Amino acid sequence: MTRYLLVSRSAEYETRLRRLFRARLQTLPGEYLTFGVDEAVDRVRETPAIALLGPLLTLDETKSLSVALGEQHPGIGVVVVREQRSDLEDWVEEVGMHAVLSPEATDAATESLIGRLDEWLVTAGRAVPPETTDDVADPSDGEATISLVDLRIEPEATSAEPPAAEAVVEASPEAVAEPAEPEWTLPDVEGVRTEVIAVAAPKGGQGKTTMAVNLATGLAEVAPHSVVLIDADLQFGDIANVLDLTATRGLVEAVDAADDEVLIKTLLIRHVDDFFVIPAPRSPELADTIDPHRMGALIDRLATMFRYVVIDTTPGLGEHTLTALEHATDGIFVTSLTVASLRALRTEFELLVALGLLPQNRHIVLNAVEKNTGLVVADAEPIIGAAPDIVVPRSSGVLLAANAGVPLIHNDPRDSAAKAVRTLVQRIEPTAYPTRRRIHRRRRSQ
Ligand SMILES: Nc1ncnc2c1ncn2[C@@H]1O[C@H](COP(=O)(O)OP(=O)(O)OP(=O)(O)O)[C@@H](O)[C@H]1O
Ligand SMILES: [Mg+2]
Repeated sequence: MTRYLLVSRSAEYETRLRRLFRARLQTLPGEYLTFGVDEAVDRVRETPAIALLGPLLTLDETKSLSVALGEQHPGIGVVVVREQRSDLEDWVEEVGMHAVLSPEATDAATESLIGRLDEWLVTAGRAVPPETTDDVADPSDGEATISLVDLRIEPEATSAEPPAAEAVVEASPEAVAEPAEPEWTLPDVEGVRTEVIAVAAPKGGQGKTTMAVNLATGLAEVAPHSVVLIDADLQFGDIANVLDLTATRGLVEAVDAADDEVLIKTLLIRHVDDFFVIPAPRSPELADTIDPHRMGALIDRLATMFRYVVIDTTPGLGEHTLTALEHATDGIFVTSLTVASLRALRTEFELLVALGLLPQNRHIVLNAVEKNTGLVVADAEPIIGAAPDIVVPRSSGVLLAANAGVPLIHNDPRDSAAKAVRTLVQRIEPTAYPTRRRIHRRRRSQ
């Protein structure tokens, strides 16, 4: 059975790979792309674990192929075969790729890269294991002519280590039904770069919860069961409501359990879109019982268990929100396009800088933007002191999704706000494309 797919316009490279992978390789001459990418992809016979795209394909062709193959064959690994050139960064940004392979790489290096990616895909649960062990290239003899650039895989691609696994779900979802004794094991994230993303805003009602929920949803598409969403809006957190989840326990209990991974697992609520939620305390007065240091310890603990930790926060810069930001790698700052909110955000930034608590990565979201309000997007930068990274329009789709208890990006992916929120997800995880399967999966399971 073939395992790898090569789409290329170079007959020479095709011959070389055939010699290398023999029966494991199916090839699709780049000429088929003349009839359209979908036509070409329909010609792929068996489900490939890895697609090698290039050499001699354009950026557009490579991008469309990567998307179309990802839709037809979810989980597929994508390797772009291309020389390292100055525009490579654009390719990395635009193509949902896992690695770049030089066409000049030696046979050993080529085999090693594909073998390591294959192994990673199997470990991550994205590909079935090869039928025979002979099918997998020996991962032990990696070489430096390759560069593995997957933004989610550890960048030390040229070492002899296999790519770090980001997600391995070892038990069936049904096992999660009984929360008291979970039989599932979380994906092993040891050695994987974890991102802790705190969503903050100086004022209430700006869209923090909307961003946090959709971020968790989008990230879980690429890292199922490896995302946890913490509702740290301690007094009025409403994530459980927005997601239509029933919770009897939440952050208070999780903070108490910060030192006990097994206990924490029993407190996680699994959302149908493959992420976990730790809801806010059941009643506002319980907020006072949460010690910020212990909450910090919980965040750190969760960061050892999950690939992504997303934290919704209380408006303003209270102790708990500062703790969340202190422990975060990424801060998402949400503001509306009003002078008061923009100024407040500037003040928030000034304070965070003074305290040394501005997270390493910062993303400014201008939310609920509408026309004819007296301000335009360009007015935001001079007031905040930094340009907005994402502009989300005001849209009734946001409210409809919240009322339906379904994350916006799945409830109505074509909604203008949903598209903008998707670009926010992609700032954190560039391969989070809205594939048909991902969107419809939620619908089917309703
Ligand atoms: N882009 C948008 N278009 C239209 N409505 C929006 C948009 N973003 C958020 N909303 C709506 O605004 C309200 C507040 O949003 P959300 O709950 O996400 O904000 P928040 O910052 O978490 O608020 P709080 O401070 O109360 O926790 C919600 O009713 C939400 O549906
Ligand atoms: Mg909120």
